[in-house]
Order: sequence, then C-alpha cells, then structure tokens
Amino acid sequence: MNVKKHPDLIVGFEHADDAGVFRLNPDIALIQTIDFFTPMLDSPFEFGRIAASNALSDVYAMGGRPITAMNIVCFPADELPKSVLQEILAGGLEKIYEAGAVLAGGHSIDDKELKYGLSVAGLVHPEKVLTNCKAQVGDRLILTKPIGTGIIATAIKGKLADEKAIQAMIAVSATLNKKAAETMLRFAPNACTDVTGFGLAGHLLEIAKGSRKSILLDTSAVPVIPQAEEYARMGLIPAGAYKTKTFCDKNMSIDLSVNPVLADIIFDPQTSGGLLISISNNNTERCIDAMRQEGVEAAVIGKVTGDHKDGFIAVI
Ligand code: CO
Ligand code: CO
Ligand code: CO
Repeated sequence: MNVKKHPDLIVGFEHADDAGVFRLNPDIALIQTIDFFTPMLDSPFEFGRIAASNALSDVYAMGGRPITAMNIVCFPADELPKSVLQEILAGGLEKIYEAGAVLAGGHSIDDKELKYGLSVAGLVHPEKVLTNCKAQVGDRLILTKPIGTGIIATAIKGKLADEKAIQAMIAVSATLNKKAAETMLRFAPNACTDVTGFGLAGHLLEIAKGSRKSILLDTSAVPVIPQAEEYARMGLIPAGAYKTKTFCDKNMSIDLSVNPVLADIIFDPQTSGGLLISISNNNTERCIDAMRQEGVEAAVIGKVTGDHKDGFIAVI
C-alpha cells in the first residue's frame, strides 16, 4: 500500500505506534485513534467501561489528553435487547467523562457479532509526542498495571474463571491510564506505549525495534494478577500468546532460569493494559513514588542496556 507522507504528519502509518499524530500549528497536534473489539465477559456495563478505557489509552500512550470520543457499535439487534446496548454505552460514557473528554457522536450497524469501542481525538504539544522510538541507553522501564487479563479472559471463555478472577480482571482493564499518564509527563519520559494485544514482551520489542536498542526484561519484577498466574499454571494460555512468542523469537532470548509459566505470561495479550514507559534512571524512583501516591500499581521491570540495530530483548 502506498501511503502519502505529509510534513505535518508527525506519527503516521509506517510506525507501529498507538495512534496517528498530525501537527495543526506549532503549538498543537491532533492525536487520532480507533479501537473496538468483541466482549470478553458477560456484563455489558463492564465491557463498555473496559472497551472505552482501552480506546482512550492510546491517546495517553502518545503523551496526549483525550478531548472527544465517538462510539463505534456493531450490534445484533434481532438477538439482544436494546438494554444491553444502553448498558455498554453507559459504561463507555463513564470512562469518557472520567477522561475529561466529551462524546461527540458515533455510528452503529447491525452485525451478528457484538463489538464496541471508540474513535478518540486528543491533543498534545508537537514536541512532546511520545513514541516507541526514543528510548535511551540507561533508561529504566516502568509498567503501570499488572498483566494476565488475557489468561483470565480465556478462563472466562472456558467457563473456568471464578468471580474473584473476573473482578480482578475488571479492576485492571477498566482502570483508565489517565493518572499514570499525567504522572509520567511530570518526569520527562523518553518513550511510551500501552500494553495490549502483543503482550508485555511484544510491546517491549516494539520499543526496542523502534529505538534500535537492546532491553533487559526482569520477569521477577513483573506484576502479575495472582489468579492469572494460577490459571497459567493450569495451562490456560491464550493462543495469541504463542503466536506473539513465535513472532518475537529471533529478537529475543529467554534465560533458561526463567520460570516457564512467567515465560508464557509475558506474551499474554492484554485487554486495556498499562503504560510501558522508558524513562531516565535519574527520574525513575521519583516517578514510581508519585505514581504509587496516585494509586497506580507501577513497577520497574527492566532497563535499556545498549544499542542494537534490529532491537533485542534479553529475558531473565
Ligand atoms: Co496502543
Ligand atoms: Co490501539
Ligand atoms: Co506511542
């Protein structure tokens, strides 16, 4: 596909980044993103909250602030009562308002398979756009949510998840990355993305490739939802995790001492995961402290160890 370049398109199609960014004038750039998916749990309201948190997250990952959102809905009107759709939209609206954005419209079509999400517009200063490609040697890597939501979603699908696990997944996935993002911006981060479908390791590799760096990932420091670890030990790993593992294979080494369960969990596709931030060693501790004060479960999970033209991750 031949996509035209434009001098004001700061982040476009060629980057594997979270959103597109277009400079409107020297002080303001527009961030545009769209995300929608099928439900991973039975509660329409919680599904709405999770899908909206996920869509808004890409604006936060670019260092921006969401301003407007539009609903995108595929709904089987013959099979489900309208109240289901109303609950989904109410859940989404709660998160749009929490983000400080407004609902500006939307579009729905009749579809056999229910899907919901948002198209979100945000603003950022053109020189403060955060991408995957500016991680520096010596940086520390911060993750702002525990991982394991894909494993719990797989357990829900197999009717194996207990209520506690479902609530744990909702608590993580429906948390907006707003506080994490606002706090991060106070400490001059170098690069950022959010952890979604490619899992922690896959998104970390995007930073390594984009920044042409080698990264050390310390699995013992990675926060994991306890129920997810339990299910992973029972072998409940989503197929997507293995696909990502194969995809990452030639740019990654996993030390033999790594717990094999953790070696799978790092590839678990996340629904509305946390921010993954590359930040100077000097600012790391203060940033982590500030995040914890805001109630963000942030952890330092690795560091940028050197230059590497293809990008590489050493997992220990
Ligand atoms: Co993203
Ligand atoms: Co996205
Ligand atoms: Co980004």
